[in-house]
Amino acid sequence: MDVNDDACCQDERVALKFIASKLAPAYTGQPAWSIRTMPTSTPAFAHLFEPLQIRGKRLKNRIMSSGHDTSMPTDNLVNEQLIAYHRARAEGGVGLIVLQVAGVHDSARYTSHVLMATDDACIEGYRKLAQTCHAHGTVVLSQVFHPGREIMESSDGLLAVAYSASTVPNERFRVMPRALDQAMIDEIVAGYAAAARRLHQAGIDGVEVVASHGYLPAQFINPRVNRRTDGYNGELDQRLRFLREIIAAIREATDEQFIIGLRICADERDPQGLTEDESLAAVKRLQSQLDYVHIVAGTSASLGGAVHIVPPMAIEAAYLAKEAGTFKASLNIPLFVTGRINQPQEAELILARGQADMCGMTRALICDPQMPNKTDTGRAEDVRACIACNQACIGHFHKGLPISCIQHPETGRELIFSERKPTPHRKRIMIAGGGPAGMKAAAVAAQRGHEVTLYEASSQLGGQVLLAQLLPRRSEFGGASTNLQREMELAGVRVIRNTRVDRALVEREKPDLVIVATGAEPYWPAFERGGELQVVDAWQVLRDEVQIGRSVVVVDWRCDWIGPGIAERLVRAGHQVQLAVNGTHCGENLPLYVRDQLAGELHKLAVPITPYARLYGCDDNTVYLQHTASGEPMLMENIDTLVLCQGHQPVDTLGDELQGLVEFRRIGDCLAPRTAEEAIYEGLKVAWEL
Ligand SMILES: Cc1cc2nc3c(=O)[nH]c(=O)nc-3n(C[C@H](O)[C@H](O)[C@H](O)COP(=O)(O)O)c2cc1C
Ligand code: SF4
Repeated sequence: MDVNDDACCQDERVALKFIASKLAPAYTGQPAWSIRTMPTSTPAFAHLFEPLQIRGKRLKNRIMSSGHDTSMPTDNLVNEQLIAYHRARAEGGVGLIVLQVAGVHDSARYTSHVLMATDDACIEGYRKLAQTCHAHGTVVLSQVFHPGREIMESSDGLLAVAYSASTVPNERFRVMPRALDQAMIDEIVAGYAAAARRLHQAGIDGVEVVASHGYLPAQFINPRVNRRTDGYNGELDQRLRFLREIIAAIREATDEQFIIGLRICADERDPQGLTEDESLAAVKRLQSQLDYVHIVAGTSASLGGAVHIVPPMAIEAAYLAKEAGTFKASLNIPLFVTGRINQPQEAELILARGQADMCGMTRALICDPQMPNKTDTGRAEDVRACIACNQACIGHFHKGLPISCIQHPETGRELIFSERKPTPHRKRIMIAGGGPAGMKAAAVAAQRGHEVTLYEASSQLGGQVLLAQLLPRRSEFGGASTNLQREMELAGVRVIRNTRVDRALVEREKPDLVIVATGAEPYWPAFERGGELQVVDAWQVLRDEVQIGRSVVVVDWRCDWIGPGIAERLVRAGHQVQLAVNGTHCGENLPLYVRDQLAGELHKLAVPITPYARLYGCDDNTVYLQHTASGEPMLMENIDTLVLCQGHQPVDTLGDELQGLVEFRRIGDCLAPRTAEEAIYEGLKVAWEL
């Protein structure tokens, strides 16, 4: 349906325009869209807040927090941190929480911190969690899970014995599994039933069987992974036998009120993965045993497929809506969909079009637990929209750390940063710098009752976010700035632009405290320069301040977004570009799914990448690099321009000026150049402690 289509109702037209204004913003080199420059008329959210009945349960709205591993459990059990995390989302009004995967068998430990439901000791924690969410009217299910061959790591560092339908290896973790024998299949099926029985006993409302992302049930369905010669392979019905046994055993172990859903990928987006036709055929045959089907995309088995497990901002918002519509039209049970639905308007549109019955908005809720309540009370404009950066949510998970959010550092730290306590000592606070650190500090300090004025030296708030959003397919990063600006506005922060804070200004204003958040500038390392080769830095390129030569070398020390982004931007502008990275590979410091999406793009553009490269020097037309492991020279000849992506150095002269004059604190990059995550966290922390 098109925005101008006559069949399109008024509500839909508003929502369509909203989405058209931001979906997959084509890279133009222009400043990014901003969440707050979208149409101001809030579409009605009639579909989003329509209750949904499943078995005996009434889901109060169509917003779901889909199962996501938090890395929070201790000893593989629910703990207070996990309860506090979900309490925040339940208080925020979410209709359905699907709890993270619960391992059903000892061989299901895909990470060392996975929740396990293999022992009655789990019941008490689940009971508290269920009671906490139920108190806010939220229905709670739990994923039940066996990863099969998808084993990521183990608690003791030893490689586990992994199991699958057949002896077919996983490419991503390089695991060669054992084929399950009948006795072990029976044991695992019994494990699903026992886990469901425990969850039922704990008061959890149902389970979602995870057959998505190439995990064990999908390994049975997939004919390229299932090479068995027994009754579990052959036609689709035989390949579904394992799942049918699981679902039947769960029903047997619980009761008729217990919800049983199935998560499956509409398309695993991998040459060896399940196709849309295969998945659709599978769920059509299983639906009589199920209460709902929940579709996602991707597979854990390959790097390219795994990108879709938590799709980064380079992938367009609500991108599974069409596939959801196809599945919904073929099924007679409710259809749930999850994947980059980051704003309530998108969810409303999917529901209004009849493409799904429930929308997973997982990172949207990690980023703003209050999103449902804000939307329901006419404050959709105040929602802090997730920008799909993947830095602190899945980024932390992949490091084995509790998940958080770069924009909302309170996530995962609910036991520390709970309710904002008003200050008993109102202070006049001056904030120097309108980047992420300064803006977060300003918003939180003002929310706590301080009198806050933020000064920005330039005409625009945002600091380095203004540059980061100019990298290809990263325009959505600009949302971090617009969200913070809105937080400041709501908190009543006074903002003064085009004014640099110096000692004289502080002497005039006489604040009680200055928060120094003056950021950073590009770092130019010392290196041999024996000629006239043009040398520029990444910021000059992004700001279009320099005329770049035809043949370019980009030297990337940080191995983050900047080097590859500059390389891509210049290739797309017609330059011949080589990328030299200091790490073992391009994007070594990036969240994994961001890295792999980026690696795919650079490969398509045929950008040559040299790893282990340290900048040594340059002359008229040659860039000299040194291999960081061998120490041997590496030469890049016939070069016109060298672009430095060598990190940043603090801009901290104000701190020196204020010594002895006034109490002050440094936060963010002026303290030590890092990322927006640390900057925003330090903004929160400093304001919390005032
Ligand atoms: C930190 C994190 C951990 C996740 N772990 C799981 C998991 O254990 N099981 C699962 O099925 N999906 C997992 N997911 C995927 C989410 O359920 C969801 O499909 C994904 O975040 C995309 O939805 P969104 O765009 O609404 O965030 C995880 C996602 C995140 C962010
Ligand atoms: S860290 Fe980034 S992707 Fe994750 S929830 Fe926050 S804004 Fe969204």
